[in-house]
Amino acid sequence: MLAAVCCAAVAQAAPELLDFSPEERARIVSHGPWPPVAPPDGANRVEGQPAAVAWGRELFFDTRLSASGQLSCASCHVPARAFQDGLTTARVGPGAEPGRRNTPSLLDSAQHRWFGWDGANDSLWAASLAPLLARDEMGQSAPALAARVRGDVQSVARYRRAFGHLLPADDEQLVVDMAKALAAFQATLTSPRTPFDTFRDALARGDLRAAASYPIAAQRGLRIFVGHGRCSVCHAGPNFTNGEFADIGVPFFVRGGVDPGRHGGLQQLQASRMNRLGAHNDASPQDPRAVTTRHVIIEPRHFGEFRVPGLRQLTHTAPYMHNGSLATIEDVVQHYSALNEERLHADGERILRPLNLAPEQANDLAAFLRSLSQ
Ligand code: HEC
Ligand code: HEC
Repeated sequence: MLAAVCCAAVAQAAPELLDFSPEERARIVSHGPWPPVAPPDGANRVEGQPAAVAWGRELFFDTRLSASGQLSCASCHVPARAFQDGLTTARVGPGAEPGRRNTPSLLDSAQHRWFGWDGANDSLWAASLAPLLARDEMGQSAPALAARVRGDVQSVARYRRAFGHLLPADDEQLVVDMAKALAAFQATLTSPRTPFDTFRDALARGDLRAAASYPIAAQRGLRIFVGHGRCSVCHAGPNFTNGEFADIGVPFFVRGGVDPGRHGGLQQLQASRMNRLGAHNDASPQDPRAVTTRHVIIEPRHFGEFRVPGLRQLTHTAPYMHNGSLATIEDVVQHYSALNEERLHADGERILRPLNLAPEQANDLAAFLRSLSQ
C-alpha cells in the first residue's frame, strides 16, 4: 500500500533538470536574488520614512488631487491589478479619449533609473509630480494642490509628521514634497517572489533536487531567454531590465503623428526644472545619477526607442508594450519570433533577429515568462 502511494507520487512528479552549462547557470543566477536590497534614493530625503510612506499612501488614493475630483493615482494604477489598469492606453474616465500610452505597473518602480516609457523623468518623485499636473492625467495646478493641503487640518498634520517642519510658504515646494511622499509610498511596492526565484536560488546554492521541481517547459523557455533568444541582453538583472531604451520594432504611430519615445523624453528631461540638476533634488550635485542626467545627449537613434520594461508580474499586466498593442504573452513571443527587421534601428538590429520559433519553443518561452509572476 505504502509502496504504491510512494511510486505513484514519484511517477507523477518526475522532476527533471536540464543540463545547464556553467555559462547558462551564471546568466540565470544574475536574475536574482529577489527581492534585491537597494539603498534609498538620495534624491528624495523622505524615502524609507514611515510617516512619509503613510501620507503618500493617503495621497495616492485621494481623488481630491485631480481637477475633476474623480481621479486618484489608484484609478489608473489599480492595486489589485499590479498597479496598472489593464487598458490598451490610459483614460481619464470611461467616456474619455484614449491616451497615447499604456499605464505601467508601479511594482518595483523604485529600481528604475529613468521613468515613463520615454524616460522623461529621472526620479520617482518627479515621475509622481508629472501626473498631478498633466492635462491628460490629474490635470491640477500647483496652487490648487497646495491650497488643498493648506486648507485641511489633517493634511497639515500629516505633512508635519512626514517632513518634520511646518508647511513651506512656497506652493511649488509644497507640491514637490507631496510628490516625494507619493514616491516614498511607491518605493515600498515590491513584487512577490515567484517560481523562477525559487528555482534560481536552488541553482545558486547547488540544490539540484529542489531546482528540478521547476517545470521543465519553463526551464526550456529560460534556456531560450538567456541563450539564442538574447532576451537577457536587454531584460537583464533581478528586475529583468537593463534600465535603458531600445527599439524592438513596435510601430510608434499615434493619431496625428508619431510617438517620438526616448527622443521626446530626453528633450522633456533636459527642459525640466524637476530633474536631478534642479533645486528640488535632495542628493548632492556629485550624485552619479545627476552627473548622468547632465551628460545625456539626444541622438537621432533615440527616436522610437522605449524603456525596456521589467518582466515581473507579467501575467497581471496585459496588454503589453508602450502602446498596449500586444494583448497576450503569446502575442509578445510571436512578435519576437516573426520580428520585422525593417522596423528596427541599427542598435536593435545588432541584438535582435527573428527567432522563427517552433510552436513548442514558443510555448516554452511563454511558460518561462509566466513563471516570473506569482
Ligand atoms: C489617467 C491615468 C493615470 C493616472 C490618473 C496616473 N497615472 Fe501614472 N502613469 C500613467 C501612464 C499612461 C503612464 C506612462 C506615461 C508615459 O510613459 O508617458 C504613467 C506613469 C507613471 C509613473 C512612471 C512609472 C515607470 O515605470 O516609469 C509613475 C511613477 C506614476 N505614473 C505615478 C503616478 C502617480 C503617483 C499618480 C497620481 C498622482 C499617477 N501616476 C496617476 C497613467 C496614469
Ligand atoms: C534590444 C533589447 C531587447 C531585447 C533583446 C528583447 N527585448 Fe523585450 N522589450 C524591449 C523593449 C524596449 C520593450 C518595450 C517596447 C515598446 O513598448 O515599444 C520590450 C517589451 C517586452 C515585453 C512586454 C513587457 C510589457 O510589460 O509590456 C516582453 C514580455 C518582452 N519584451 C519579452 C522579451 C523576450 C521574451 C525577449 C527575447 C525573445 C526579449 N524581450 C528581447 C527590449 C528588448
